[in-house]
Amino acid sequence: MPEPVTPVTFPPAFLWGAATSAYQIEGAVREDGRTPSIWDTFSHTPGKTAGGETGDIAVEHYHRYRDDVALMAELGLTAYRFSISWSRVQPTGRGPAVQRGLDFYRNLVDELLAHGIKPAVTLYHWDLPQELEDAGGWPERDTALRFAEYAQIVGDALGDRVEQWITLNEPWCSAFLGYGSGVHAPGRTDPAASLRAAHHLNLAHGLGTSALRATMPARNSVAVSLNSSVVRPLSQDPADLAAARRIDDLANGVFHGPMLHGAYPETLLTATSSVTDWSYVLDGDLAAINQPLDALGLNYYTPTLVSAAAASADGPRADGHGASSFSPWPGADDVAFHQTPGERTEMGWTIDPTGLHDLIMRYSGEAPGLPLYVTENGAAYDDKPDPDGRVHDPERIAYLHGHLSAVRQAIADGADVRGYYLWSLMDNFEWAYGYGKRFGAVYVDYATQARTPKSSALWYRQAARTGTLPPVTAVE
Ligand code: FCB
Repeated sequence: MPEPVTPVTFPPAFLWGAATSAYQIEGAVREDGRTPSIWDTFSHTPGKTAGGETGDIAVEHYHRYRDDVALMAELGLTAYRFSISWSRVQPTGRGPAVQRGLDFYRNLVDELLAHGIKPAVTLYHWDLPQELEDAGGWPERDTALRFAEYAQIVGDALGDRVEQWITLNEPWCSAFLGYGSGVHAPGRTDPAASLRAAHHLNLAHGLGTSALRATMPARNSVAVSLNSSVVRPLSQDPADLAAARRIDDLANGVFHGPMLHGAYPETLLTATSSVTDWSYVLDGDLAAINQPLDALGLNYYTPTLVSAAAASADGPRADGHGASSFSPWPGADDVAFHQTPGERTEMGWTIDPTGLHDLIMRYSGEAPGLPLYVTENGAAYDDKPDPDGRVHDPERIAYLHGHLSAVRQAIADGADVRGYYLWSLMDNFEWAYGYGKRFGAVYVDYATQARTPKSSALWYRQAARTGTLPPVTAVE
């Protein structure tokens, strides 16, 4: 990277946000007409989550949202990204909406606006209504059509007061962890189904974008949040470069190809031809997916390091969210995954801010002129309160300082990054890992639901208030 920018000061309009998702925080899973999503079913299936933990109660945000918004305001946040639980607003995944479900989100949005916090709504953060999975789930085309209807319902209800919209969160995880390695709901392990799911998620994004535009004021912004991977080859050996290319197609090109350029990469179609014939990509689909967007969301945690390997090699899978003997990389059994050297977080993810810089610069080129947001970035640590009740997390401060500096550097290098959403506002249900991995800037005592801002939250508040990163030692 070029010379670092110092002091690390951001443009005045830069958004200082935090992110969450519905199933990870809301609880209240059987209230006000909500029906099970695939995550309710999955987490209640023995052996699927650490300790059999579920989102039944989570951090009770459904009932505590007013206090949570007050806390966000105290922490100086200027933006908040949250997701809508599909089965709370449209329980069967089709047909009429439930007003009480919509009211919850309307009240939440009004509370945010009253505190001067910009809401950013994600329509889909992995919690498909179970009824739609029973009808075939994402491998089936109809799920994309249902998503467009759902997008229209939510757009109608909130489009007058929410300007920032995100169709899907990390469709890679939905497709390849949900239907490939099976470590996420619905827990299927079928490589062909995972590619079908990827296509129908793309279609859902395109149809959902059109549905939002048809119902919302033109000033609103529509985006998607991709967990685009920074895929690095272990060496410059042509075989390793080819392996990196394969994984890049499966991690990135499979989504940004149709979304941003209107085509799947030829290299992806060839490399997966023994797994699927792609016959479910119908005439008109690519045009439907390739909708003009107003922004692009990038979620980043750690880079992916790969090499060519013998077919039998059994390196660690770079799926990030849990171990499985089934691969989330269809047609790439001859690629080996390696741990990037360096310090790691509690997830075992290597800390490497240069990856975030590289990712932003890549997408600046991939989507010229499109404003970018870092819609997730953060770290899990084994945080514990001191005897005096305070929670010190200097590692998280260092992580945030490093990654925000990388964002600032990317802006200096010409990238149009408009905001940053820290993952996560508060500790929550970390999917297959249950409550064991704490990503929050705010500590949650799960026995009492008491919220305590960690040192990192106070550090972040200072950054948000001044627009300049404080030194890492500022709030020790
Ligand atoms: C992302 C997810 C988010 C959380 C973080 C740690 O992949 O979008 O819900 O699990 O990872």
